[in-house]
Amino acid sequence: MVALPEDRETMEERLVEEILRLKEERDAVILAHNYQIPAVQDVADLVGDSLELARAATAYDAEVIIFCGVDFMAQTAAILSPEKRVVLPAGDACCPMAAMVTAGEVRVLRERFPDAAVVSYVNTSAEVKAESDICCTSANAVTVVESLEAERILFVPDRNLARYVARFTTKEVMPWDGFCYVHDRFTPENVQDARRLHPEAEVLVHPECRPEVIDLADSVQSTSGMVRHACASTARSFIIGTEVGIIHQMQKKCPDKEFYPLSGRAVCINMKKTDLTMVRDSLVTLEPRVTVPADVADRARTAIERMLAVR
Ligand code: 13P
Ligand code: SF4
Repeated sequence: MVALPEDRETMEERLVEEILRLKEERDAVILAHNYQIPAVQDVADLVGDSLELARAATAYDAEVIIFCGVDFMAQTAAILSPEKRVVLPAGDACCPMAAMVTAGEVRVLRERFPDAAVVSYVNTSAEVKAESDICCTSANAVTVVESLEAERILFVPDRNLARYVARFTTKEVMPWDGFCYVHDRFTPENVQDARRLHPEAEVLVHPECRPEVIDLADSVQSTSGMVRHACASTARSFIIGTEVGIIHQMQKKCPDKEFYPLSGRAVCINMKKTDLTMVRDSLVTLEPRVTVPADVADRARTAIERMLAVR
């Protein structure tokens, strides 16, 4: 008799079983960003935004962290927990925005503006963090900037997040010219069209969106902030102005509500690179491991820990 190939569902169930068994054997924890594919989100111990995932890196008492996200997130975990083995199953998953500013460019900025504080978004390389006074995420950017004594802020690399922060502070925020291609291409027309189609829906957007899109939104939040907002709101439906993967978390956490993407094109290719087979393989081999050279990590840790201390 010819053996039939396993159907997708059975294959997925088998992979999940293997992952759960290996996770125990390896003393591993699986962290996943809100943009990961649904199957990866569902097998994770924690699904969250960049800030929650950074905090989780130290909070979990595990020997291994399987980081389902992009490289700067795994590097942050490795910097904060050098005693743990941090593994990025899709080893080439990166954030193009993080590559838009280099450590050398930050050093030049510092020379030109010696009185300014450098705030780097966590979507940066470890080398850029090492040159920064403090890091921030989309969840705490305003609070971080407000916590500083300096009146002038060099904000790298996201120009849109920098402009968003500038709305809430009297400090001078000088944006670097980086951007996220997923968020920067939402347009005011996207919002107007979505509102016409779903007039009852609330519009939630990420602060990486352009100012003219933010102007039209009902709420601006980090990814996990959007999930919490949707669950707490009295509205029944939402237009989601961020990467589409987050809709899985929203549907899971508030199954009785409706979610519509602001644009079906809002897909971060790098966030979609990780699948269950890669997660399983990374638990078998504990590779690809993410490491940061100690001298860079020590300086970057200071900037990240300063951020984590801001409440
Ligand atoms: P959050 O920290 O809000 O999850 O954002 C991360 C990110 O990469 C957004 O594009
Ligand atoms: Fe980077 Fe944008 Fe992808 Fe977030 S969505 S990881 S900022 S490219």
